[in-house]
Amino acid sequence: MESGEKGDSPRNREPWFRGRTRTERILLVLALVLILLCAALICVVVYISVKLGSSDNFQACDKLECIRAAARVADGIDFSVDPCDNFYEYACGGWMKNHVIPSDRSFLASFSILRDTVQVKLKQVLEEDISEGEIEAIVKAKNLYGSCMNTTNLKAVGISVALPLLREIGGWPILGTNEGGNWREGDFSLTSLIVTINKYSNVPYIYPYVYLDSKDKKRRVLYLDNPGSILPERKHYDQPRDSPLMKAYVDLGVKVAIEFGADEEQARRDMEDILDLETNLVNITTPLEDRRDNEKLYNKFTVGEMKLNFTESKELDFTWRGYIQQLLQIDGVEFDLDENQTVIVVDIQYMKRLIPVLLQFPKRTITNYAVWRIMNNRIKDLPDRFRQYLGEYLKVLYGSSHIRSRWRKCVDVVVNYLGLPIGRLFVQRHFDEEAKAGISDMSDNILDSFRTILSELDWMDKDTREVAEEKALFIKRKIGYEDSILDDDLLNRRYENVTIHPVNYFENMLFLLKRTVIDDLLELRTNLYRMEWEVAPSTVNAYYSPPQNRIMFPAGILQPPYYHKDYPRSLNYGGIGTLIGHEITHGFDDRGRQYNKEGELHEWWSKRSVDKFKDLQTCFINQYGNFSSPEADGMKVNGIITLGENIADNGGVLQSYRAYRNFVSKRGSEENPLPGLNITHDQLFFINFAQIRCTIAEKKNFVNHLMTGPHSPSRFRVTGTLQNLPVFSEAFQCPKDSYMNPRHKCRLW
Ligand SMILES: *[C@@H]1O[C@H](CO)[C@@H](O)[C@H](O)[C@H]1NC(C)=O
Ligand SMILES: *[C@@H]1O[C@H](CO)[C@@H](O)[C@H](O)[C@H]1NC(C)=O
Ligand SMILES: *[C@@H]1O[C@H](CO)[C@@H](O)[C@H](O)[C@H]1NC(C)=O
Ligand SMILES: *[C@@H]1O[C@H](CO)[C@@H](O)[C@H](O)[C@H]1NC(C)=O
Ligand SMILES: *[C@@H]1O[C@H](CO)[C@@H](O)[C@H](O)[C@H]1NC(C)=O
Ligand SMILES: *[C@@H]1O[C@H](CO)[C@@H](O)[C@H](O)[C@H]1NC(C)=O
Ligand SMILES: *[C@@H]1O[C@H](CO)[C@@H](O)[C@H](O)[C@H]1NC(C)=O
Ligand SMILES: [Zn+2]
Repeated sequence: MESGEKGDSPRNREPWFRGRTRTERILLVLALVLILLCAALICVVVYISVKLGSSDNFQACDKLECIRAAARVADGIDFSVDPCDNFYEYACGGWMKNHVIPSDRSFLASFSILRDTVQVKLKQVLEEDISEGEIEAIVKAKNLYGSCMNTTNLKAVGISVALPLLREIGGWPILGTNEGGNWREGDFSLTSLIVTINKYSNVPYIYPYVYLDSKDKKRRVLYLDNPGSILPERKHYDQPRDSPLMKAYVDLGVKVAIEFGADEEQARRDMEDILDLETNLVNITTPLEDRRDNEKLYNKFTVGEMKLNFTESKELDFTWRGYIQQLLQIDGVEFDLDENQTVIVVDIQYMKRLIPVLLQFPKRTITNYAVWRIMNNRIKDLPDRFRQYLGEYLKVLYGSSHIRSRWRKCVDVVVNYLGLPIGRLFVQRHFDEEAKAGISDMSDNILDSFRTILSELDWMDKDTREVAEEKALFIKRKIGYEDSILDDDLLNRRYENVTIHPVNYFENMLFLLKRTVIDDLLELRTNLYRMEWEVAPSTVNAYYSPPQNRIMFPAGILQPPYYHKDYPRSLNYGGIGTLIGHEITHGFDDRGRQYNKEGELHEWWSKRSVDKFKDLQTCFINQYGNFSSPEADGMKVNGIITLGENIADNGGVLQSYRAYRNFVSKRGSEENPLPGLNITHDQLFFINFAQIRCTIAEKKNFVNHLMTGPHSPSRFRVTGTLQNLPVFSEAFQCPKDSYMNPRHKCRLW
């Protein structure tokens, strides 16, 4: 009331309060306190919501996985290297210094460490006692492991376990008149020799297998290919006989034969002959460089036509019809052959020259080599001294004996032959189910960025681009494992015809090898019960399958350093994301692109786009072909046999990076930093891409790797890919013309 009247004089301000009544004053004070309290409350609420919301940039991620990741990333880096000078040395330099190659292996890579960890977990589940009510399929897996681990029995039975096999084959000539020998030249039949050994999934002279017809996915068909050689690459056979490798190879055969009672000198002569024969055969195989055009590997004949195009021999008792007929008649298969049955010959030059080459050799040598093919593979299942012999040879070949703890070998055997039951135990104990949704979501985002990239490409014409987009949309996914392995009945049924003895390891192996072949051949006529997805869930790897147009990521690889649900996304996209992109791009690499969206081998590209593709691929062939490996005395990378993988690496990183940036834009701000690391998330993306590949290896391992591909050595998978990528150079601010930021860049996808 009065306050208004006296309000213009400054002195009157005080009296305004004093002029109130006592009650008014108390109420005013109370109101003020309440207002302050409210303000404080609002502040707290705002603070909390801000902290939970988007502007947490200042706060490092303090989840356990972030702390682990930060330590791993930091340990891997060599901070003394400039990332623009050599990104592999920068990202993996620390890792390489902190690791040594264990004496039982010839290389060590980040993924080997994860594989070793998975093996430890599998060992633990396999060694648990068979429980009451354990399902059959798992009992089989545990028994196989137990039989493999029983070294007491292995010693007790010695070589006797292999003798019935040698008798069934008709004797190994190298053994003379010892048990397992007693070969009779008069009984020689090339057809029986090949088929009898083939029964056990070993493939002398011809490698037959049943697979989807690449031009008609509705059916399965018999393929015939060359069987490869025992030394991993044809160039090895050019070495002189007195080279350490040739000597080690011959010595291996001699030592094995002597264990079976052979005369040393005879065994040595026989092994030299075997090597002669093998050298001649290797010489007629089509080199890897010429096996990238899948049309040329698809040569269809009917069984009846085979004799018109491929030499036969009465002398050796070999006709193509007879061979295929006998192959399809093995126990458990027993199909009658029909002249019109189609066969696809993969390596046509080899098949044409096979019989003429064999005719230059005595039957004794032909038999010795065929039996050596299977014995060489069974050495590892004989008593441990045989593994020592094998180790001496492998040491010369790869630089290490590769003799790992027996339990590791036994875990591998179970994974190879009973991978689904053991995989079920693995995923039940160790797999985070949330990963499935996480990876599926990432795959969506990466496919989206692949499709955006497609729409930006100017070298493809519109029609081809549209079909490409459709193919990308058709890509099927398998993530983690197939649910049916959790169904007792389905899993048991899958292995209903597999019998495993708890003690007799060698017999178990022969049984499993036989089963593999029977199951394979039966697919020609019957639809056996198979799980849709048969890769062992514990596998630390990822796949693209052209005939299925399908990408696969087993549970084994959905773990750090590739993926973790609590990782910043930069690490997940730099890790598993680049693999997802890599596998997608395989559908569009130099070979994958030959298959259409249904997975059939049909040209779906315009001539103009194919020509353009081939132009652009030359850039990659030259880029990688000019890399020389410091770890292998400067030996060059083969730009042709590594082409598909290089294209996949290049496409994969870009797609995943773009998907990551989309994620960040949607999020509205960069992710929280990793604790203790002053490294941006863009940089972390590329660092993880590199670090999942860090590798150290023996020189000999490098040499073999460079000869046989199909991947470039890790060093160049990292530098080659990132040299081509402007977004990498931006992330690390690499100056133009630095090693990591050359002017000339290759790009396809
Ligand atoms: C190992 O094999 C022997 C037979 O040679 C058998 O008596 C023993 O029980 C087996 N050991 C295990 C652990 O199965
Ligand atoms: C390899 O094959 C070529 C013909 O293709 C022949 O000239 C050469 O002698 C063969 N080498 C051996 C070791 O058989
Ligand atoms: C197979 O032989 C027939 C008849 O001699 C010939 O016409 C055909 O071109 C041959 N096919 C191949 C792939 O060599
Ligand atoms: C094989 O095919 C030919 C021509 O299509 C046919 O005349 C013949 O009856 C067939 N033979 C068999 C055994 O099916
Ligand atoms: C097991 O063998 C039987 C008889 O040969 C066959 O009918 C069945 O399909 C086989 N099961 C599997 C899963 O291979
Ligand atoms: C290296 O690159 C040059 C030019 O790009 C090319 O002509 C040459 O063939 C490449 N070398 C190899 C081994 O690929
Ligand atoms: C983090 O890195 C940036 C750029 O490399 C640098 O400028 C900054 O000083 C660094 N901060 C700390 C706290 O090390
Ligand atoms: Zn690949």
